[in-house]
Amino acid sequence: LLDSGVGGLAALSRLCRYRPGAACVYMADTAFLPYGAKDAVTLTKRAEAALAFFRREKASAVLFACGTLSAVALPHLSPRDFPVFGVLAPAVDAAACATECGRVLVLATEASVASGSYPRALAARGIRARQIACPLFVPLCESGHTAPDDPLLRETVAQTLPQGCEDGADTVLLGCTHYTWLVPALQRRFPGAALIDAAGEAVRVCLAALPETAENISPGAVCPPLPEAAFPTAYPDTAAHIFPETASGAEIFSAGQPSGKELLPATQATQPPCAPHAAKRPTLPPTPETEDPARRFCGCRFVCTGDAAAFARAASSLLKFPVRVSSVSL
Ligand code: DGL
Repeated sequence: LLDSGVGGLAALSRLCRYRPGAACVYMADTAFLPYGAKDAVTLTKRAEAALAFFRREKASAVLFACGTLSAVALPHLSPRDFPVFGVLAPAVDAAACATECGRVLVLATEASVASGSYPRALAARGIRARQIACPLFVPLCESGHTAPDDPLLRETVAQTLPQGCEDGADTVLLGCTHYTWLVPALQRRFPGAALIDAAGEAVRVCLAALPETAENISPGAVCPPLPEAAFPTAYPDTAAHIFPETASGAEIFSAGQPSGKELLPATQATQPPCAPHAAKRPTLPPTPETEDPARRFCGCRFVCTGDAAAFARAASSLLKFPVRVSSVSL
């Protein structure tokens, strides 16, 4: 999985909930953060460099756990001999299912908004989209300002989104994976709207591509216990909100939770799972319980292109698991 920082961790966390111990490599490209302020050529070159890294890692599939790379770089990449997934198509699928009035508000980075990729994909489903770039949300997530009562976050949300869904949209697509960490705050801003989380949606597609067999699972997938002190507590307790069953009763996670049966094959990932703004979201079985983070994440390796210690602190806090991070350069 690749993201500029902590955004893709929301996808990783969900993925490992369904495939505990899965052998994942998570790259936080913090040396290049924020992606949202970069142009398409730069982002595409960076994505190619990251894919070369993942090839050396012998990855069987790569997820751009990042709305910006999915919207801006993915369409320009040269073909690979392994699948490269993005978050855009699954998120658009879910938004198409969720909206009843056919209007969606897209929140994304500046680069994603400039690309027009989200509204184009939604328009292909007959859905009207308005976009708002939220460039300050990413640094807030990176620095731990994610709790809905955080004064800086509240002020930023109020300034960035002064009008809410005033044009009648009933669905808000969070087109940047960092924004998943802000779901509790955004839910307050858009009461009654369905929030579609691109990071969570993409996990369906990945699960379809990952075999359930033991080859993807690290043997004896339990980490040795770590001292309490290794677990930073500097960040507010927002991790609970990235799982629907622990969120505050709200239906924030899209058209449903992935399970083996409902998954679309990866090759069909861009086909709509239901008619645009016609179908109700399906009720799906509850998420399988894999509460023990040591079991969930111990197949994961974390690498970072920037300040590995800073990323380790942020990731450990959000995942509620003491993460060790190695430095890499691209
Ligand atoms: N989390 C990423 C996204 O989904 C990147 C944000 C950024 O670095 O600007 O767009």
